[in-house]
Amino acid sequence: MNDLILRTARGEKTERTPVWLMRQAGRILPEYRAVRNSVSGFVELCQTPELAAEVTIQPVDLLGVDAAIIFSDILVIPEAMGLPYEMVEKRGPFFPNTIQSEADLQKIRVADVESDLGYVLEAIKLTKKELNGRVPLIGFAGAPFTIFCYMIEGQGSKTFSKAKKMFYTNPEFSHQLLQMITDSTIAYLKAQIKAGADMIQIFDSWAGILSPEQYSVFAMPYINQICDAITEVPKTVFAKGAYFAREAIGRSNCNTVGLDWNMDVAESRMLTNGKVLQGNLDPCALYGSNAEVEKATKAMLDKFGPDKHIANLGHGVYPDIDPEKVKVFINTVKEYSEKMR
Ligand code: CP3
Repeated sequence: MNDLILRTARGEKTERTPVWLMRQAGRILPEYRAVRNSVSGFVELCQTPELAAEVTIQPVDLLGVDAAIIFSDILVIPEAMGLPYEMVEKRGPFFPNTIQSEADLQKIRVADVESDLGYVLEAIKLTKKELNGRVPLIGFAGAPFTIFCYMIEGQGSKTFSKAKKMFYTNPEFSHQLLQMITDSTIAYLKAQIKAGADMIQIFDSWAGILSPEQYSVFAMPYINQICDAITEVPKTVFAKGAYFAREAIGRSNCNTVGLDWNMDVAESRMLTNGKVLQGNLDPCALYGSNAEVEKATKAMLDKFGPDKHIANLGHGVYPDIDPEKVKVFINTVKEYSEKMR
């Protein structure tokens, strides 16, 4: 029924600006914690389609967003390729085994999506049924470079220097692993679309740590492969911190370019070849008072203008943000963007 985000992503003029939040499912809602506490942990929640569907729909019911994003994680791809992970409370992901050498490549495989990731596809089907057309469902995957970071490093890092070291010391091996991740990701996204995902987003969360030259060699070609292969639905590329890559992403086959809060909107419009833009309020702006959130949201909308914009934060919503502030952000987008027409 509400297909605003799909029409906007296709470049059509709409009656108002659509709005959703990266990481809207899971981080901020007490209703999520309740479901999460009913199972052993994050991984089990991801692998239980009924519960994954329930927490996917929570933000639609409780916050009023214009899209749902399937509850899962970018790290299900390394797991499906043969590297299981744990989600350590308050610390984040941890992989007991990592990829360090050519010999390790022999131990992993391109994901067999239907058998290894069937639980995500099942969650998508259930979510679609329960959403019953209320809002579109976004499928997603990590960009090959960001997934490569976790497969080499085994956990979060400020610099991902072990992963970057591979680009300097063994570029050929790096390309082999990046290609395996890309092949897995294309199959995975196609399966998500077949299961019901109405649009997809690629998260390149660590893009900003690469030099522009390395981005053009080790990241962009694989994003291009994905964008060229997915022709069924609109595609968003969000490369956090990669202000230097906006032009290349603008030339890619994606529909929407995600912006973080450091990226100037007018400059991004000039660089991105007429693409739809998504973003880009500083997530910390939601720590302000209701009046301040409203003011910052209106200022953001003024910068983007009424067309070719999907409102969002410039990165995922932070875990300690008051859901009431998120509602102020969402309602301001809905009301103010309608008046901008
Ligand atoms: O957007 C959504 O709400 C849908 C679900 C979603 C999750 N992770 C659930 C999750 C999405 C789209 C992601 C993407 C993701 N995961 C990214 C890219 C986006 C970004 O923020 O840059 C990255 C880098 C990851 C890897 C990851 N997963 C980390 C570093 C962590 C630990 C810290 C954190 O973000 O909470 C996770 C865990 C995770 N993924 C949780 C959720 C709800 C919290 C786990 C819990 O409930 O215990």
